[in-house]
Amino acid sequence: MAATEPTETAKLVYPVPPAFAAQARLRRDDYDRLYAESLADPDGFWRRVADRIDWITPPTQVRDVSFDVEDFHIRWYADGVLNASVNCLDRQLPMRGDKVALLFEPDDPNTPVQRITYRELHARVCRLANALRNLGVAKGDRITIYLPMVPEAVVAMLACARIGAIHSVIFGGFAPRSIADRIADCTSKLVITADEGLRGGKRVPLKANVDAALAMPGTNSVETVLVVRHTGAAVDMQMPRDRWMEAVVEGQPDTCEPEPMNAEDPLFILYTSGSTGKPKGVLHTTGGYLTYVAYTHECIFDLREDDIFWCTADVGWVTGHSYTVYGPLANGATAVVFEGVPNHPDVSRFWQVIDKHGVTLFYTAPTAIRALMREGDDPVRGTSRRSLRLLGTVGEPINPEAWRWYHDVVGDARCPIIDTWWQTETGGALITPLPGAIDQKPGSAMTPFFGIRPALVDAEGRLLEGEATGNLVLLDSWPGQMRTVYGDHARFIDTYFRTYPGMYFTGDGCHRDADGDYWITGRVDDVINVSGHRIGTAEVESALVSHPKVAEAAVVGFPHDIKGQGIYAYVTLLAGEAETDALRAELVGHVRKEIGPTATPDHVQWAPGLPKTRSGKIMRRILRKIAEDAPEQLGDTSTLADPSVVDSLVRNRRGA
Ligand code: WT7
Repeated sequence: MAATEPTETAKLVYPVPPAFAAQARLRRDDYDRLYAESLADPDGFWRRVADRIDWITPPTQVRDVSFDVEDFHIRWYADGVLNASVNCLDRQLPMRGDKVALLFEPDDPNTPVQRITYRELHARVCRLANALRNLGVAKGDRITIYLPMVPEAVVAMLACARIGAIHSVIFGGFAPRSIADRIADCTSKLVITADEGLRGGKRVPLKANVDAALAMPGTNSVETVLVVRHTGAAVDMQMPRDRWMEAVVEGQPDTCEPEPMNAEDPLFILYTSGSTGKPKGVLHTTGGYLTYVAYTHECIFDLREDDIFWCTADVGWVTGHSYTVYGPLANGATAVVFEGVPNHPDVSRFWQVIDKHGVTLFYTAPTAIRALMREGDDPVRGTSRRSLRLLGTVGEPINPEAWRWYHDVVGDARCPIIDTWWQTETGGALITPLPGAIDQKPGSAMTPFFGIRPALVDAEGRLLEGEATGNLVLLDSWPGQMRTVYGDHARFIDTYFRTYPGMYFTGDGCHRDADGDYWITGRVDDVINVSGHRIGTAEVESALVSHPKVAEAAVVGFPHDIKGQGIYAYVTLLAGEAETDALRAELVGHVRKEIGPTATPDHVQWAPGLPKTRSGKIMRRILRKIAEDAPEQLGDTSTLADPSVVDSLVRNRRGA
């Protein structure tokens, strides 16, 4: 499922709906003209785009980039000065002070909605920003945010941006060990959390998880923990470290002098999994990132003043950063903040929320679409959805069947679908059809955004022309590109710029069809995409081998109907340990406890031995084929140190 199969569907084109094109911001000729301009004169193009930002000092410089590892640098708008929170708040006050910025829809549909205007949001952000300054937080300090999907998460991010502190948001599904690693990596000074989270009626012990994380070594940079009272649950407060949010913001002035930030000063760090080692702290800077997310948000969603925009991603992921917080607010839009899940209290929840708030632009993940498709059409047909005018997907390849269901049933065959390909590293969407300009093909992300130069290369790095399948690279920079891996610039260069010299390597495989349209086929490295969440196989392996009964582990992805990919773990036990179902369950629980529920293995297979080359390298290609239940495609196993281990793995595979 993860790999879309373009051949049968490539001919099936869904033209831009004429009614949509008639009112669209950008049509086909606009796309062609602007794309050509953006490549012919990147400086001029991106200089004009940056006019949409309120600069304290407008930049005179635009693009200053070299992907050459000997002279590596990426700088955009390098002499510009701005503040991201001013762009998201202050600049909206004259025209949009009473416009709703955030529409908060709580987990429980019976809990009252909160409508937070730009004026209120500005005041709340300023109060917290003042409080943070009083607590000694200064420009450049790192702040960890571990909150549920509630307005306070947005307030916390923007308060950091106001005073120049670098936020690191950690998804509320991560476990104490993962929190501790991320705090230690960036030596966070302060943590903002809540008593508990609430998802689908279930309580998540956020404060207790932070307490457990802060008891782990390497976390003593943290001086203060601010706790938002959310569910009202009793939590342990350790004085003087822990402070209630309401107490620290009380009495703070509702204005706050913004910190002037250089365009290349960091805005945030967001940890994401790679193919090796620990998650890396993807660092985004202020000027280029904000320019890119605001511009893409307006163009790809065809944003209008009265739109109600809903991106269902949690702010713990980049999608939430770029298209719930920074993009929409910099554009003065109204954004829905949804605390809940698609199937609580029932599987109509998404569609009911759309009707309740008159959502016009809806952006979600293929995994949610597949899960809801499985429930049949009735839960959708029972709702109106007349307000919708555009649908979007992100996070993983969408299979054409799910695409068509989204189009025909959710969108009543009226709404264009934008399949947006991008990554934590890219800051914003890079390959996506512009809805009023580009016809859609189910399963294809179609065309590059302005200034983006995708290309395909073979394993040797040779550029492929015309219709081709290969590895996806980007030949030039764009303002929203990540600037470094926090604390490890060498890792940044090694990971992305050494595989194919002079190019950014995405880690994705891709097909370009005869029309020149792009079809992302999924990761070609050791990263698994589970429900649109990136999991590094190395992380799961290291969690497994940290269990006292495990000798060795190898983890691969396999096709999964709902999640896109599932996690398949091969585990070798220490001599004398019994291969029981109870131990299997214990190992699954162990990984959840070490990393978090998103990393839960779907299947654990006992492996008396693992297929290794004579030099000791595990041959994952073989393990992938066994997990895919395709043992007939194993290929050549003669280079293995012990080819016989494969037979027993094949016999005991999940699909056998
Ligand atoms: C990886 C990045 C972009 C925000 C959410 C995920 C996969 C993302 C698509 C798409 C096919 C996609 C890629 C990419 N991916 N969007 N529209 N079609 N694949 O961000 O966690 O950094 O993951 O997600 O494999 O490399 P992320």
